[in-house]
Amino acid sequence: MIDVVCGGQAGDEGKGKIAAYLSYTGNYDYCVRVGGPNAGHTVELDGKSYTLKNIPSGFLNSKTKLVLGAGAYTKTEWLLDEVKKTGTQDRLIIDPYAVLITDEQTAAERGAAHFMNKIGSVGTGLGQAVKERIERRDIKFAKDEPLLKDYIQEVPELLNKCLDKGGNILLEGTQGIKLSLLHGEYPFVTSRDTTASTFLGEAGLGPKSVRDVYVVFKPYVTRVGPGPLEKELTDEKELKVYHTKGHEIGTVSKRLRRVGEFENRAAARALMINGCTKIAITHIDMFPGNDRVKNVKDFTPQAQEFLAQLRALSAQVYPHPKIAIISTGPDMKDTLLL
Ligand code: IMP
Ligand code: MG
Repeated sequence: MIDVVCGGQAGDEGKGKIAAYLSYTGNYDYCVRVGGPNAGHTVELDGKSYTLKNIPSGFLNSKTKLVLGAGAYTKTEWLLDEVKKTGTQDRLIIDPYAVLITDEQTAAERGAAHFMNKIGSVGTGLGQAVKERIERRDIKFAKDEPLLKDYIQEVPELLNKCLDKGGNILLEGTQGIKLSLLHGEYPFVTSRDTTASTFLGEAGLGPKSVRDVYVVFKPYVTRVGPGPLEKELTDEKELKVYHTKGHEIGTVSKRLRRVGEFENRAAARALMINGCTKIAITHIDMFPGNDRVKNVKDFTPQAQEFLAQLRALSAQVYPHPKIAIISTGPDMKDTLLL
C-alpha cells in the first residue's frame, strides 16, 4: 500500500520529520520523493540534524530504498553531495526522466526579476527547468548523466511490482496547498501542483493502492516569500521566538520566514483536496509548556484548544480525518502517535 505525506499550509510544515518518523517506525520498501530542490526538509535524530533537498527523508531506515520519481528535479552535484552525507549510495534509485537542473537554468531563474522579486522564488532553477520541460526544450534528464548511471531504473515498474507483491511505499510530497500551482494562492505559488494526486502521478503510481494520506500542519502558518497570510504577526519580539526556538528560517532560501496565525480556510482545503485520512501536527511545542510532553492529556490548555479547533474543523470537512501524529520537539523521537 501507499502512504502519502502532504503539506497543509505554505510548505515547511515539518513533512520531512513526519516522513522520517513514518519511515523509521514503518516497514516501507521504498520511500519516494518528487518535486524540486527548492524544498528543504530537516530531519533530526539523536542530536544529529540533516538538511535535505534531494534525498527522501525516509533515509534513516536503512532497509528502505530511496527513489526519485520522474517528477523529481535535482542538481547532480547537490544530489551526490547528499548521497555521500547520508551514506545512501547502495539504495538510491532514480527514474531516467527525473530532471537535472542545469547551471544555466539556475542562473536564468536567479537573473529573472519576475521569479525572484514578484514570486519570491527560492532561486534553485526549478521554475526555469519546469518551464523548459513544458516547452519541450532539450533539457537534461538523469539518464543523460554518466555520474548517475548506476542509480537509473524504471521507477513506475519497480514501484508497481512492489505493490503487486504486497509491499509498502511512502510517498513524500513537497511544499503545501497554499503554494500549489493549481489550488494555491496564484501567482504566489510554486511551479507544480502540490497535492497528493499529483505526487502519485509524478512517481508513476495510480490512486488505487493508497492507504493513508497524511496532511501536516503547524499551529501557525509561515511563508518564506511574498503572498497572502491571513493574520500576519508583526510584533518583533513575538517573531523572534519563531525565528529562534521555532527555527523558522528557510532551509534552502535562508530567509527569515513570515509568520501568521493558523488559517482554517487553507486547512479545510488541504484536508479536502488531498483526501486526507490522517492529520499530523508539528511544532506543538511553540505553545509554551509543551516541549517533549509525553501524553496529549498533559498538553497546556492553549495546545488543547488548538487540537479541539482542528478536530471541529475536520468534522466538517470530507473525508473527516483524525489527528494521528503530534510532534513535540525537533528530534524524530519527540513524536506522539495517537
Ligand atoms: P519557487 O518554487 O522557488 O519558484 O518559489 C515560489 C514560492 O514558493 C516562493 O514564495 C517560495 O518562497 C515558495 N516556496 C518554494 N518552495 C518552498 C518550500 O519548500 N517551502 C516553503 N516555501 C517554498
Ligand atoms: Mg522546507
